[in-house]
Amino acid sequence: PQQDRAQLSSLLDATTRASRFFQEQLRRSPKAIEYLKQRGLTGEIARQFGIGYAPDDWNALREAFGKDYDSPALLESGLVIQNDAGRRYDRFRDRVMFPIIDQRGHIIGFGGRVIGQGEPKYLNSPETPLFEKGRELYGLFQARQAIRESGMVVVTEGYMDVVALAQYGFGSAVATLGTATTATHIQKLFRQSEKVVFCFDGDKAGRKAATRALENALDQLADDREVRFLFLPAEHDPDSFIRAEGLEAFKRAASDAMPLSEFLLQTLRADLDLSIPEERAKLVHDAKALIPKISAPILQLQTIRLLADDAGMSTDEVSLALGLRPAFKS
Ligand code: UTP
Ligand code: MN
Ligand code: MN
Ligand code: MN
Ligand code: MN
Repeated sequence: PQQDRAQLSSLLDATTRASRFFQEQLRRSPKAIEYLKQRGLTGEIARQFGIGYAPDDWNALREAFGKDYDSPALLESGLVIQNDAGRRYDRFRDRVMFPIIDQRGHIIGFGGRVIGQGEPKYLNSPETPLFEKGRELYGLFQARQAIRESGMVVVTEGYMDVVALAQYGFGSAVATLGTATTATHIQKLFRQSEKVVFCFDGDKAGRKAATRALENALDQLADDREVRFLFLPAEHDPDSFIRAEGLEAFKRAASDAMPLSEFLLQTLRADLDLSIPEERAKLVHDAKALIPKISAPILQLQTIRLLADDAGMSTDEVSLALGLRPAFKS
């Protein structure tokens, strides 16, 4: 453990120094500044999120690290890569850099966006002993105060969504970093707020991400917790939406977002013709995979009632069909 702590602190030292360097380099790069401006960001918001720039250079970090460029920490942090011939080079080159900050304010990794077109669009730090992707939420450190004040947290897909929402005055957004929403994410979110609103991109991938979030949220629910889903128009993500429609429109959309129970029923109903008994049976059959997982007893009952209406059955009949005890015997 002593050694683990030493390793963590040398990793942290590397990411912290690199982040300071990237921020300095942003100030010296008119091209990167122009890119951020064109995306609607001010210098103030860039500072708030510690946004930087990794120069178009194979060994730019040598300037920041000197002889430490050859240290194991830089390699372990993923900032530097070593080829088969033993030569080292910077992972991030000519990219806008987003530091990923944990809840204690420590920089644990980076996402780097290509300026303009290019592949991959975002390059991320690899997982390290500091950085575990399925646990971290980008922007949570900066958003905590706003989450507390607004009583909700909005979960988006991307770096730019979080930063653009903050730029337009919506500070309580975080992002899952290109990974599916995990149970750990949801536990973290509920520690910050009783109300979690998922707002993924309006495209097919975003819709799929919402379904995954739904499935992973069911056993994290409680009757004093609320999960909602904000579905954006197909062409939008939160960043483009708030730029096109403004803060008030986004706030309205967030407070009108679809309750989890409704999304669940909508998911189950998709493609079914409920005028047909067989399809009403399939509706209830499919619900067995979801409704028993709901860990909020009263909400579970409410959801059963919605399902019963759709299925043309009583709530007790549905409960039995789901393998659940009829709730309130009357
Ligand atoms: P998007 O493709 O929706 O990116 O991916 P975006 O945030 O809207 O990007 P902009 O607006 O074009 O800059 C959503 C998230 O998925 C991860 C990133 O975390 C990104 O923010 N991602 C995406 C990657 O890790 N790598 C990629 O190549 C693309
Ligand atoms: Mn997308
Ligand atoms: Mn997007
Ligand atoms: Mn975007
Ligand atoms: Mn089946």
